[in-house]
Amino acid sequence: MSGNYKDNLPWVEKYRPDNLEEVYGQGDIVNTVRKFVESGKLPHLLFYGPPGTGKTSTIVALAKEIYGPNYRNMVLELNASDDRGIDVVRNQIKSFASTRQIFTSGSAPHFKLIILDEADAMTSVAQNSLRRIIEKYTKNTRFCILANYSHKLNPALISRCTRFRFHPIDEESIRSRIDNVVIKEHVNITPEALNALLHLSQGDMRRSLNVLQACKAATDGDDDDSIDVDMIYNCIGAPHPQDIEACLDSILQDDWTTAYLTLNRYKTTKGLALIDLIAGFIEILSRYELKPQNRVHYLKGLSDIEYGISKGGNDKIQSSAIIAVIKQAMEHEQQPTTK
Ligand SMILES: Nc1ncnc2c1ncn2[C@@H]1O[C@H](COP(=O)(O)OP(=O)(O)OP(=O)(O)O)[C@@H](O)[C@H]1O
Ligand SMILES: [Mg+2]
Repeated sequence: MSGNYKDNLPWVEKYRPDNLEEVYGQGDIVNTVRKFVESGKLPHLLFYGPPGTGKTSTIVALAKEIYGPNYRNMVLELNASDDRGIDVVRNQIKSFASTRQIFTSGSAPHFKLIILDEADAMTSVAQNSLRRIIEKYTKNTRFCILANYSHKLNPALISRCTRFRFHPIDEESIRSRIDNVVIKEHVNITPEALNALLHLSQGDMRRSLNVLQACKAATDGDDDDSIDVDMIYNCIGAPHPQDIEACLDSILQDDWTTAYLTLNRYKTTKGLALIDLIAGFIEILSRYELKPQNRVHYLKGLSDIEYGISKGGNDKIQSSAIIAVIKQAMEHEQQPTTK
């Protein structure tokens, strides 16, 4: 791939790992699948876990390591959610698996690899027939099934595979990858903004790269091209912590009417959603030293309200309920102190 071609790609593609060394934060999984390959005994694989954690990247990097230049002939990538009908999938698999490999040489493995991406989007009928297909072609193919949710997969399908759960990537691993990109792309970002980016990405490397690229594009050409905390929050669309704190302070310290008006003001001027406020309050309150029964009280109350909002509950009533729950939970606390 030439440098120029790569320059126009979104960063998530430009910095997609080329080999297993470049897969960050999933060390255990990488080591295990490598061992399978070294021993020549690759089972069918199932990778599942949240988005942007490296499932597709890992299997593509692994396949590149196994097949090298023969990748195109030996690997079939199918996106199961593109075409939910099993007939298409079955035909493609059949013609791919039944053609003989002309390229196997020396140490190269004697099986082909079929990557079935987003398999949890397939209908259960399709998944059912897939298990027969897997058995039929096991002699000369290996399947790698990728999904976000394992509970949406047919148990019989799962039991034919060795399962790996991809967890959200830890902040330090995302930091190492992002540091790399920051240098290569000449990004000017403050340390606080970088911390906020890592925190808000919640283990999703795709999100962190996308947000960084969007912020960089927004500052390009400006005199001051440095990316600050506010830009990161605006770009992700997350509420600013100081706004959430201001709302919570008002609930804790002001009388009921003032607190209600403050909440309303932030909702209208800053576009804060009640759901985000609840999540923010819980995060802040979890850092307070509180009596267990009071903690239970606000957690239960706020989760009920969250459910009410998701069911379309009236915004004004739910706002009032939030104030009521927090005020009541804190009623019997002395000065709350942070842990
Ligand atoms: N562990 C990782 N190490 C390095 N880069 C990663 C990692 N995970 C994700 N990325 C980056 O994020 C992009 C998307 O990752 P990938 O497609 O592998 O995610 P995924 O787990 O398959 O997500 P989805 O469930 O949405 O398909 C990659 O192109 C890569 O740039
Ligand atoms: Mg994927």
